[in-house]
Amino acid sequence: MSAFADLFGTEPEGTWMAPGRANVIGEHTDYNDGFVLPIALPHRVRAEVARRTDGLLAVASAQQPGVLVEVPVADLRPGHPAGWAGYVAGVVTQFDLPGGLSVRIDGDVPAGAGLSSSAAVTCSVALALRDLLRPDLSVEELVDVARRSENDFVGAPTGILDQSASLLCRAGHALFLDTRDRSTRQVPLDLAAAGLALLVVDTGHAHSHADGGYGDRRKECERATEALGVPALRDATVETVETLADDVLRRRARHIVTEDARVLQVVDLLTGGGHPRAIGPVLTAGHVSLREDFEISTPELDAVVETALAAGAHGARMVGGGFGGSAVVLVDTADLDAVSAAVQPAAGSYRTFVAVPSPGAHRVS
Ligand code: GLA
Repeated sequence: MSAFADLFGTEPEGTWMAPGRANVIGEHTDYNDGFVLPIALPHRVRAEVARRTDGLLAVASAQQPGVLVEVPVADLRPGHPAGWAGYVAGVVTQFDLPGGLSVRIDGDVPAGAGLSSSAAVTCSVALALRDLLRPDLSVEELVDVARRSENDFVGAPTGILDQSASLLCRAGHALFLDTRDRSTRQVPLDLAAAGLALLVVDTGHAHSHADGGYGDRRKECERATEALGVPALRDATVETVETLADDVLRRRARHIVTEDARVLQVVDLLTGGGHPRAIGPVLTAGHVSLREDFEISTPELDAVVETALAAGAHGARMVGGGFGGSAVVLVDTADLDAVSAAVQPAAGSYRTFVAVPSPGAHRVS
């Protein structure tokens, strides 16, 4: 008998997987109608799912014993259930499921690391419910289902970067996404063939998007947008942002405008036939902008970037929403061990791994 049947007395109707992501470049641009360039990670969530008849949502995790949550579907509301089961519940409430659902999650995306563990949960469940109940839903609609679970149910005011990456990325590619018109382009990214690796360094200093800083940055971007009189910061230019009188708003807007330009530059470099190591300095410039203009880096992430560069990396930057989490480092494969060792703090506690562009979400069985 499977672990699922042990818990719920029935076999799952199927298993769906959705990956976490690392973003090559394009941070905080997604809620400003801008550009992003993520890859899917080999780390993923697998969701086993079966419909029920008793009206309950029951959630279990392979990482914890027993059934963690049992709530009538009719009682689901923002904050109830609390904790990560809320990401599952936020998806379930968007489908017509009066009979209820059993879900068993098995995940290895580090939580709070800026690698989209929450999108891996929402996207795996959303894909399962699409296949079982609403095969008419497009991938874009699924992105929105997953995002609304975070925004409206859990209360994390994210954009569409993480959900799009999890659902749309392909193995061996980075996903170039224009978050304004949702157009995408798969950019081949075979770093290993070029003698390179993208090293992820998880500092273990967890962020939490539901509180504070992330939402503040969104509001500052909205105020800058209003002050500039543009539809979105995507429409501002390096010249126009300098006209903003407020120093904070000017720097926030400048990050978005320069970051959009960096995404386009990285895509050009990756598709132009030159050596991909050329993107390194652009990644580092992205970090400087996140540190100085957007002010969402941490001393730990700054230290990772500095030590990586000093040890010979081509470029390095913090990744994700900020205020903790992970950095990505572009390094020659030959220098991987030396750079991985150099970025460790004295306690040697940082988790490091090579991010190989991996498949996006799909049904496993
Ligand atoms: C988090 C959010 C995304 C995006 C990034 C920053 O991961 O969930 O929508 O805003 O931060 O680029």
